[in-house]
Amino acid sequence: MRATVDRAGLDPQGRLPKVQVRRVRKGDLAKVRDVMEQTFGDFLERQLGTRPRQAFGGAQYVHHRWLMEPWGCFVAEEDNSKIVGAALAVTWGSVGILGPVAVLTNYQNQTIGQQLIRAAQEFFEENNATLQGAVTYPTSPKHLFLYHKFGYKPKALTAIMSRTIDRTPAHAAAAPAPAKPAKPGLNVRRFSSLEETKKKATLARIHRITNAICRGMDVSKEIEIVDGLALGDTLLLERGRDLAGFAIYHTPGVSEAPAGALYVKFLALDPPHRKVEHLVEFVGAVEALGQELGVQRVILPVYSRYWVAYSTLVQCGYQIDFSMIRMQRGKQEDYEDPTHLVLDDWR
Ligand SMILES: CC(C)(COP(=O)(O)OP(=O)(O)OC[C@H]1O[C@@H](n2cnc3c(N)ncnc32)[C@H](O)[C@@H]1OP(=O)(O)O)[C@@H](O)C(=O)NCCC(=O)NCCS
Repeated sequence: MRATVDRAGLDPQGRLPKVQVRRVRKGDLAKVRDVMEQTFGDFLERQLGTRPRQAFGGAQYVHHRWLMEPWGCFVAEEDNSKIVGAALAVTWGSVGILGPVAVLTNYQNQTIGQQLIRAAQEFFEENNATLQGAVTYPTSPKHLFLYHKFGYKPKALTAIMSRTIDRTPAHAAAAPAPAKPAKPGLNVRRFSSLEETKKKATLARIHRITNAICRGMDVSKEIEIVDGLALGDTLLLERGRDLAGFAIYHTPGVSEAPAGALYVKFLALDPPHRKVEHLVEFVGAVEALGQELGVQRVILPVYSRYWVAYSTLVQCGYQIDFSMIRMQRGKQEDYEDPTHLVLDDWR
């Protein structure tokens, strides 16, 4: 059954309002944030039966994403005055990530969402993003229909997992703490501690890792915005002179980390170093950092196609907070290797 169309967006004469899609401007940012919060709040209230106090638990997406990728951020504006929808998109090299997308509840089912997605698709094309992805709600016919219209196929589940790092005795018994990171030969450093001249070279080494996982993928922008705005940091896992892996994390404040949680946005081990024990140690290093920062939880996202990574997190005591489905279109349809130790979030 189709959702009923709420006509509150019509003018008094019953004509469709004039809604235009344009790029986000600095002055729109607070309003875009409100539109996202309100829309997802309404959506989650319908799904869960109660309205969450904050739709994203305090996580924020708009301001830093716009600074990172201003050309990928769009609003739908009614009569040049009221923002009624928004879509954010970013390119990680040849990979385009779409979302969040939101249209105020009273304006839904009037093609505004499609206009926003179309704008994001054009942005991807202009920037040669040959693989495009999003995550959405697997049980929503509307969402699957909408993405299908743009050629996105449902792939596999993405699980947002977390583990409390409060060391209560009961918890410690259920899941022994992962090994300490300082194993001989392994060293953990923070990107922010590098001299400016070393940062560029490190970004190039990280690009080599992501390129080995998915050809053309480059998350440098994410690392630079986290560093530039101090949204968190990037941990570098070194083995001798080699960079064995990296983890971009956000800490609570004005970042994508919900209140009280350290959130890893992207973690990857270089394929030649993809040993489960290295992942366990790296997760241990992230947890140690969380303890140092005084947060209660560590949130790790994992795509279930990366089956070894997913299984490792389960063994480390991580539980699924919620799951979404990854949608994909474009080239490199099945690039994922289930043995790659990658934790990435396409929200
Ligand atoms: C998802 C969202 C952005 C879509 O925006 P929208 O403006 O309502 O979307 P559109 O009107 O452009 O397109 C919706 C399409 O789904 C169709 N649709 C609606 N309900 C449907 C249902 N139950 N089953 C199948 N199709 C359905 C509509 O008919 C329309 O297709 P059509 O134009 O071919 O008829 C909006 O619903 C929203 O903000 N939801 C809450 C936040 C959210 O979930 N964001 C996306 C996270 S991935």
